[in-house]
Amino acid sequence: TPAAQSGQRPRGAAYDSVFLRAARNEPVPHTPVWFMRQAGRSLPEYLKVREGIPMLDSCMRPDLVKEITLQPVRRHKVDAAIFFSDIVVPLKAVGIDVEIKAGVGPVIADPIRTEADLQRLRPLEPDDMPYITEAVGLLVAELGATPLIGFAGAPFTLASYLVEGGPSKSYENTKAMMYGAPELWAGLVDRLAQITSAFLKIQIEAGASAVQLFDSWAGALAPDEYRRSVLPASTKVFDAVAPYGVPRIHFGVNTGELLGLMGQAGADIVGVDWRVPLDEAANRVGPGKGLQGNLDPAVLYAPTHVVETKAREVLHAAQALGGSHHIFNLGHGVMPSMDPDALTRLVAFVHEASAR
Ligand code: CP3
Repeated sequence: TPAAQSGQRPRGAAYDSVFLRAARNEPVPHTPVWFMRQAGRSLPEYLKVREGIPMLDSCMRPDLVKEITLQPVRRHKVDAAIFFSDIVVPLKAVGIDVEIKAGVGPVIADPIRTEADLQRLRPLEPDDMPYITEAVGLLVAELGATPLIGFAGAPFTLASYLVEGGPSKSYENTKAMMYGAPELWAGLVDRLAQITSAFLKIQIEAGASAVQLFDSWAGALAPDEYRRSVLPASTKVFDAVAPYGVPRIHFGVNTGELLGLMGQAGADIVGVDWRVPLDEAANRVGPGKGLQGNLDPAVLYAPTHVVETKAREVLHAAQALGGSHHIFNLGHGVMPSMDPDALTRLVAFVHEASAR
């Protein structure tokens, strides 16, 4: 589009929100906070609207996507909405036979293991996901000054599902391809970089004002292997969306040793799980980038005063960044059994304790 080509986007109603100001490293009245997986299984109102509707069907119904995305914003007063969808939705859009099994995760009917399999993974075209464009449009209109974060799965994490055929602990088939068939692997992550870039562009063009790339399982890799086999594809994704000028977040779990490289891929903000304190993460990521995180999600199961002490420690460590440039989050997603009220209280606490 002309806007993307000129590097300019119209400034949406959320442009001056606390979340987007912090993401741009501008002064903020308090630290913004949102949660990964804030929409979904921990909320009774979610379980109610999802009753009898398969996960991936719900992602293709703009009315439902809008309602589910808004539920945690209404309830918790978080500083940003995360678009309700899933990392495998664009794979389904290009014809991959995938479903999400409750309590398991994405399951792929015919895993990709050979060059012939790879040919089934066609590019994602801008008009392949009209339901996403419609849902984002409805949401942005309703959210007003609250920003909407778009997202996608990173090439490695998507590849792990496609090659294993489902969730994995050791990624043996994925790594067998990465180590043993490097050209096939490069072709796979290159195709995934295209699909992921196109999915993010669809969300940004429809009005999402920040994006997060989820490389949730990249922590399975040693830094050298990440640099060689994953970094080029993820860099392509960040480069593809750079012209829009929206903040780009890069997140993974168990990625303490990869934080510097994940920043190098082109992120403006690097997500940190709870294993590395934010002041140390700042050293690893280097100057000029923001950090997001990093309270251990399991802390939410402890009494309120403990949650608040631990949250204060995160805010304190973030001061290594000079105040702004920190987005408060959990180190990974909200768990289904969490008490939603504990999350609501945590949002209020972060706002209060970080007020300046
Ligand atoms: O609030 C939000 O973050 C909502 C949007 C969202 C979902 N999935 C909804 C969802 C996002 C950003 C994701 C990303 C996603 N999906 C990731 C990366 C994030 C992370 O946690 O690291 C991954 C690895 C997936 C793949 C996936 N989809 C898994 C592992 C599961 C859980 C399966 C289970 O039941 O244990 C899903 C399903 C899923 N995606 C649910 C939701 C709300 C649960 C669906 C349900 O209600 O049954």
